[in-house]
Amino acid sequence: MRFRHPTLVLFFCALAGISVAAVAPARSPEALMAEVLAAMTPSQRAAVRAEVQDGRVLLTVQRPQSEALLIGLRQAIASRNASGATDCVEPSKSDRATTACRVYAVEPLPPAAPGRVPARDVRGLIAAMTEDEKVDLLSGTGFDTKAIPRLGIPSLRMVDGPVGYRGGTVTGKATAFPAAVAMAATFNPALNKEVAGAQADEAKARGARMILGPDVNIQRYPLGGRNFEMFSEDPYLTSRLAEAYVRGVQERGVAATVKHFLLNDTELQRTVKSSNADDRTIHEVYGAPFAAVAREALAVMSSYNPANGIYASENKKLLVDYLRGELGFQGLVVSDWWALRSGVGAAEGGTDLEMPIKYFYGAPLREAVRNGIVPLSRIEEMDYHILSVMQKIGLLDDPKPQGPFPKYPKSDPPAHAQLALDAAEESIVLLKNEKAPGDSAELLPLRSDRIRSLAVIGPNSDVYRSGGGSSGVTPFKSVTPLEGLQRRLGSAVALRHVDGVRIPRDFVKSTPLDENAGIAEAARAAARSDAAVVFVGDVESEDGDRPGMGLPGRQDELIAAVAKANPRTVVVVLAGSPVAMPWIGQVKSVLVAWYPGQQEGQALARVLFGDVNPSGKLPVAFPVRLQDSPSAKGYPGGPSGIDYTDGIYVGQRGLDKAGIKALFPFGHGLSYTRFRYGPVSVRAASDKAADPRVEVSVEVTNSGARAGAEVAQLYVGQDAPSVDRPLKEFKGFEKNTLKPGETKRVTFVLDRGAFAFWHPVKRDWVVEPGRFHVFVGSSSQDIRGTAEIDLK
Ligand code: BGC
Repeated sequence: MRFRHPTLVLFFCALAGISVAAVAPARSPEALMAEVLAAMTPSQRAAVRAEVQDGRVLLTVQRPQSEALLIGLRQAIASRNASGATDCVEPSKSDRATTACRVYAVEPLPPAAPGRVPARDVRGLIAAMTEDEKVDLLSGTGFDTKAIPRLGIPSLRMVDGPVGYRGGTVTGKATAFPAAVAMAATFNPALNKEVAGAQADEAKARGARMILGPDVNIQRYPLGGRNFEMFSEDPYLTSRLAEAYVRGVQERGVAATVKHFLLNDTELQRTVKSSNADDRTIHEVYGAPFAAVAREALAVMSSYNPANGIYASENKKLLVDYLRGELGFQGLVVSDWWALRSGVGAAEGGTDLEMPIKYFYGAPLREAVRNGIVPLSRIEEMDYHILSVMQKIGLLDDPKPQGPFPKYPKSDPPAHAQLALDAAEESIVLLKNEKAPGDSAELLPLRSDRIRSLAVIGPNSDVYRSGGGSSGVTPFKSVTPLEGLQRRLGSAVALRHVDGVRIPRDFVKSTPLDENAGIAEAARAAARSDAAVVFVGDVESEDGDRPGMGLPGRQDELIAAVAKANPRTVVVVLAGSPVAMPWIGQVKSVLVAWYPGQQEGQALARVLFGDVNPSGKLPVAFPVRLQDSPSAKGYPGGPSGIDYTDGIYVGQRGLDKAGIKALFPFGHGLSYTRFRYGPVSVRAASDKAADPRVEVSVEVTNSGARAGAEVAQLYVGQDAPSVDRPLKEFKGFEKNTLKPGETKRVTFVLDRGAFAFWHPVKRDWVVEPGRFHVFVGSSSQDIRGTAEIDLK
């Protein structure tokens, strides 16, 4: 404890019987600031903003142009017998222009108290660590934390998710599962959990005990470069899948890292652009998935961007007050890679671990601790967060230091390849399916006994397509759509393959093509075949947004030419985000397959030819045009960043509010069979607004001729709320596989969470008494039944 007030010092000294003369009264921070300012040169004074913050003198220098200025400030501090610390090492010159440098001054610390007795629990380990070890533990060594062999503390090894174990050229290959958006399209949390578990097993087998996933940010805007890594535009759906992923990983003794906290959904200038959202929007939308897993997840990754003007990694209001205080998170907050912008700020702001290597948490933090600018107790708390995660996953019981990453296994476990196939098949969404002129049935599924020839066209027809960046997995083997069709059809159907065009910025398939000739050749192949399938898409990756919502390059032209040549044209879109479809009226069938993982080709062949009945639903609405997106107004934002002016009206909710029809709405997805919904019934076990419990049930029948799975969806809307609320919010779903003629009763249980909103003035969740509507349907716009509930 440091006594700053002489009267208090006198009082305690008198109590303790200490001679008063032995204690020198400390200067107040204001007095110290005046002394330091007086010790500066006029030009130094002109360059700084001096203030007292948290009992310390803080000198802020905007965009420091020279080291000499900072050294001069430190000399001024030292000349007044005070301790200082400079908190502005820059990882990259390009960011320098935006950064302020902070220099702190405080009274020197009294000598350290003697250490406590070591013990083998987390607190005991911390007590046994030297001050340097305590600081050293707070920064990484690549993808590991630093081991302290002297105390038997091993390193905690991390690996990227959420598509699979991201090894690449350094650490090897792994099973590549479908992208997160595809996993969300399954609307199947149990399957998501299984896939997460398989990823954890692969990580663990290679010594990694912390997966850097799931990414539970909200797919807010169609151009977001990392949309494919995020589950969905909807907070409820994202929350359920986040829970499944976290449980799947953590049940295997591996820590899940929920990322990127917070408001990290576009990639344009991602390290400098602030995302600005109000409290209600954070609570109801962007923070909701973090809230859903906050008590379970062992780790959270703070994001690159500033949130409401303050870097996420040092945003005390979000990391400490909201995440730890309000949401009850007790685990470890890890920085994104190279994301820190200060040591003192991040340590105090709530980031426990700096990755990938020691930078701000190196010398600057050590000095700040030595000089008492950051209390050692805060460092110990950060150590505690790291070590207790290690303890919870059993790593402290097995204190072998990590060796180098183990050698590549030779292949993926067969069960995982099968799981990747199952997941891909379940994630594919049938957007449109109509009859071609003269046909008696819809174009899909194609019939291998009727079709003798098939044109296989497009830049994505013979490539393994996945999202790029830190979630990119290198599979042992992958199956392209063309290979999948060849395997499925053998010699029974003649395949005519033409790429036609290239996708600009394609780093996988980049050999140039004569695209005029390619389009003409594709049209000829289509004209000569019984049907044509065009595989198109976008190339998406971390660290850049998509330039537009249209299919890049000349893909639209290719589709139009093929559709003109053959009325039996199917389009398959491989992309992680909504794409514009100006050709939608010209083709009979459209599938969106996202980035389906290593079994891409097999899954698509099986869906196209009806071995699998598609059951995916859209986890994100596809607007007709980019400007229809409710988030379009805020993007790319001005100097203060991106304002989330659409508030809680992200995606479908915003389209509903504006009365804009989506090209394909949230929750949409067709099947090769049909489902009939019975009347919706409601039973209130409690109709008290304070603690509601309502059961909504409906019978769903497969009224078609094939087995298939249907995702029954439930939405809730409040009649005349006291604040503006969405017409309806997604609050429940259940997926069931039904044989032809089979009926299943689906029951949704609604509690407080289904009716509540975040009251901006009361700053609390509120359920208002009154009438609520429930909507049950096959998509957000295909509502098959409604009912009312009156809460008292
Ligand atoms: C990404 C993180 C990732 C980290 C480590 C960063 O660029 O934003 O999601 O976990 O790299 O690869």
